[in-house]
Amino acid sequence: MKSIVVLISGSGSNLQAIIDACSSGFIPGKISAVIANKANAYGLVRASDAGITTQVLSHKTYASRDHYDEALIDAIDQHQPDLVVLAGFMRILTPAFVQHYAGRLLNIHPSLLPKYQGLNTHQRAIDAGDTEHGCSVHFVTEQLDGGPVVLQAKVPLFSDDDVATLSERVHEQEHRIYPLVVRWFCQNRLQQQADQAWLDGNILAANGYA
Ligand code: GAR
Repeated sequence: MKSIVVLISGSGSNLQAIIDACSSGFIPGKISAVIANKANAYGLVRASDAGITTQVLSHKTYASRDHYDEALIDAIDQHQPDLVVLAGFMRILTPAFVQHYAGRLLNIHPSLLPKYQGLNTHQRAIDAGDTEHGCSVHFVTEQLDGGPVVLQAKVPLFSDDDVATLSERVHEQEHRIYPLVVRWFCQNRLQQQADQAWLDGNILAANGYA
């Protein structure tokens, strides 16, 4: 059974999807801890309700990004995770942090990467007049939102969409693809090798839509 540590900053709906998938046995893994950089992150309530150890590590009490990430590594490594899952963890990570977890660090991003790296992805897709949008699960590398994509899901973007309607549609897909990718990892089927993601011994192309 793989040990998973999940990092969050907010609502934690993706965390909930992964909690549910572990409980049902869909993911052969156990969430050993949920760590948030914000004390009011609702995901902490979701974790406590599920009987999962939680910790708040506020970035505000550290002088630099380097110091915070060192403390974060210490907190995470107490749980000896096989996998670290970023689920709406809204911080840029230092190269030292990313290197420490190379090959066992996953993120979900609300766009069809490589489109719309960074913030405000839904508004940017609307402003660009896109007719489709989506989400991507990827391994994390030092390149922000640039690591190898494992799985993406597309949604339609309608002319009367606003950020709320679009983000709800994307979230539904996030809750489908993130547990699936975590399941693959925990089944030892998914690996990162340099800038490529491999599933069952095959290189995954960047646009593998679910
Ligand atoms: C998700 O939409 C996720 O893709 C996004 O934050 C949201 C968290 O929702 N992540 C990023 O923007 C990372 N750059 P949740 O807290 O309900 O899971």
